[in-house]
Amino acid sequence: MLRTLTILTAIFIAPVWAQDLPEGEGRPVTERICTGCHGAEMFSAYHKSGDDWDRTITTMTEKGLSITDADYATVLDYLSKCLGTPAKKLNINKASSCELQTTLAITADQAQAIIAYRAKNGDFKDLDGVKKVDGIDVAAITAKKDNITF
Ligand code: HEC
Repeated sequence: MLRTLTILTAIFIAPVWAQDLPEGEGRPVTERICTGCHGAEMFSAYHKSGDDWDRTITTMTEKGLSITDADYATVLDYLSKCLGTPAKKLNINKASSCELQTTLAITADQAQAIIAYRAKNGDFKDLDGVKKVDGIDVAAITAKKDNITF
């Protein structure tokens, strides 16, 4: 019984850990490089500026992390955008999925819907255009209107 429970726990908990890090460009590289010594839960709940993440990676190299320049840039970009701080002004026509999620406080699905809409219909011109996106949380978008640029 205990053994079954252990196996079940492993099956159900492992994917949750993997999902800990938000979906975004650079996640696989970050996961590979940053979970060698500890789990992603060590840093996945942080929201820090790019400069602070830069310092964190430097601190990790002092603890033994070895990383190529290319991977450093990828990991820093991922952490800055996906575990970053909300932007004061975000260009909704250029923002990545992670930037949209962080600054507008919307889900990954909604961020994806904005990106798909933009790709199909061209740049948004105003807030009314954004409100037309399928499945968008209009209240959340309206609350962040001062943070959105076009
Ligand atoms: C070579 C091993 C190693 C690798 C690889 C590594 N870390 Fe760490 N990290 C550590 C150690 C050791 C600690 C301290 C653990 C403790 O305090 O229990 C730590 C702690 C942390 C902490 C908590 C302490 C703090 O400074 O806020 C964060 C955040 C963190 N790591 C982020 C990262 C990120 C992001 C990466 C990928 C760039 C990474 N780590 C890769 C060894 C590593």
